Amino acid sequence: MRTVGREIEQQVSTGSLPGWDRVHELAEAGYARYRDDDEGTVADYIPVLGAADPALFGVCVVETSGARHAVGDTEVAFSVQSISKAFVYALVCEELGHEAVRDRVGVNNTGLPFDSVIAVELNEGHPMSPMVNAGALATTALVPADSSAERWERIRTGLSRFAGRQLTLDGEVYRSESATNTRNRAIARLLESYGRIEHDPLEVVDVYTRQCALRVTTEDLGVMGATLADGGVNPVTGERVVSPDVCRDTLAVLASTGMYERSGEWLFEIGLPAKSGVSGGIVAIAPGKGAIGTYSPRLDRAGNSVRGQRATAYLSRALGLNVFASSAHVPVADVRPSE
Ligand code: DON
Repeated sequence: MRTVGREIEQQVSTGSLPGWDRVHELAEAGYARYRDDDEGTVADYIPVLGAADPALFGVCVVETSGARHAVGDTEVAFSVQSISKAFVYALVCEELGHEAVRDRVGVNNTGLPFDSVIAVELNEGHPMSPMVNAGALATTALVPADSSAERWERIRTGLSRFAGRQLTLDGEVYRSESATNTRNRAIARLLESYGRIEHDPLEVVDVYTRQCALRVTTEDLGVMGATLADGGVNPVTGERVVSPDVCRDTLAVLASTGMYERSGEWLFEIGLPAKSGVSGGIVAIAPGKGAIGTYSPRLDRAGNSVRGQRATAYLSRALGLNVFASSAHVPVADVRPSE
């Protein structure tokens, strides 16, 4: 489908959150409800991730007003992993524009696991989705830069602007993944064989591995997500990071592919664009209202945090965030005071 109607000025469709006290109370309730839930397993295909404490659990709601509601282990740092894909995608959309990124990387769900090789083969090397590893590698390669070092620095500073503070590399995670990421190297080579990657594929894998090893907290995830909810302005620092159009495009992609092959189920149950990472983070975004960051290392089989999904589902319902929810229109005649 081609782009239509872009000459028409975009209006927005959002609502508002309940007051500060109510949001805070619900963030605490969402945490308490799932604190003792111990389903799922900690990822260990990147060896160092296997050492994460499975008991850790943090929930942080960040409003577009900049208000923050942090409960639990929200200051514990972990590697951002696949959640970086969403923000690097936004930075690349900002640089290259809607059509170019859609055509080169795609906006559809592969329906296959995030590290699928067969998905690349089935689509003649087109990555289809910027949220799976093939599409994320292709997206990282599109970050304009004269060298890999510059590309990495642009990504690090770009993601730091979303977080509102300087993010740094977790060297241990970077080394652990670099020593074991043969599959991502194979995917990058496969993209190269189809002419879908312009730079040295192994250098692109290295930059991508670094972006995945950036250290964040649950609170950072909330602020990063709230920036996408706030038309691209970081609600804590007041800095514009990307345009409102880029936020809308990024959220559309997250809705369809952010939770991998579970994206349909996620949207059906929770109704919010979101992105997960294999270290246990999830960020879910309510356009115009704010974002929910969660962290808990035990994952389901698709690689999404179990407690994080459950806490987000609870908060989406309780805070009225599901973008598909509505109630019957009350005719004006019915709400007039009786005479
Ligand atoms: O490339 C990888 O496999 C990891 N650096 C990131 C994967 C990931 O986070 C998948 N998320 N659920």
